[in-house]
Amino acid sequence: MAIEIKNASFAYPNGFVAVENVTMTIEAGERVAILGQNGAGKTTTVKMMNGLYRPSQGDVFVNGINTKDQTAAKTARIVGYVFQNPDDQIFNNTVRAEIEYMPRYFKLPEEEIQERIAPAVELCDLKKYLKKNPFDIPFPIRKFVAIASVIATQPKYIILDEPTAGQDKHGTELLSNMINVLQSQGVTIITITHDMEFAANNFHRIILMAHKNVIADGDAREVFWNEPAVEDARIKKPVIGELAKRLALGGKTLFIDEMVEKL
Ligand SMILES: Nc1ncnc2c1ncn2[C@@H]1O[C@H](COP(=O)(O)OP(=O)(O)O)[C@@H](O)[C@H]1O
Ligand SMILES: [Mg+2]
Repeated sequence: MAIEIKNASFAYPNGFVAVENVTMTIEAGERVAILGQNGAGKTTTVKMMNGLYRPSQGDVFVNGINTKDQTAAKTARIVGYVFQNPDDQIFNNTVRAEIEYMPRYFKLPEEEIQERIAPAVELCDLKKYLKKNPFDIPFPIRKFVAIASVIATQPKYIILDEPTAGQDKHGTELLSNMINVLQSQGVTIITITHDMEFAANNFHRIILMAHKNVIADGDAREVFWNEPAVEDARIKKPVIGELAKRLALGGKTLFIDEMVEKL
């Protein structure tokens, strides 16, 4: 079980090629963070994973099936995608209706609908917002509404496109906890983020994208200490890593405990 992108390129209708000859495999059960500058092609790449986009060249396989050989709706039931901008995703008048929408669309029995809603609401801490109009609540919380509605569809893979944008400490902690719980249930988590601490703390594997392609892929420590790749992707090392570099502590230090020990 895996998502396999093989030599995939994607051109938008205006002809602009946003992703060029990308190859990557994400095994079921992994948690992977995709990092890189705005415009690097991250969102385009993950939209190919869930069938929203089909590659113009190359192939994407989800659990062995080419996304070209099944409907986008079918791929999306296996690979859930939470939009970078929740306003591109949310369309119901209440938070509850938004989260229940897909389970109701699947025509599940009422009991099962409620069994899916409850954990999604809990993981996203949305209980007190259920009766609200999603557009009357702050952006970072609206983002959690978008996440909860994807969790309620129970996909095998969940893609979070910049979930950390605008989140405070509580929001970031909710995300970390959610990722742990979902992974313990066998869900594969793929995240795009600009928060390097969040990436280092929660994801063991990091994929760096730049110039429409993958420029580094591997263990978080190795990737963050790959100086040419970090520079090329124009990302920052996590603060502790940067400090360790300036202090020449060695050992590819990435976390505060390691730093304290070395000092
Ligand atoms: N609908 C579109 N039409 C044309 N170009 C687009 C469209 N959406 C995105 N792009 C361009 O494709 C490139 C990659 O975009 P995207 O995948 O969103 O990057 P990232 O998520 O890494 O910021 C950018 O240069 C962006 O301007
Ligand atoms: Mg993006």
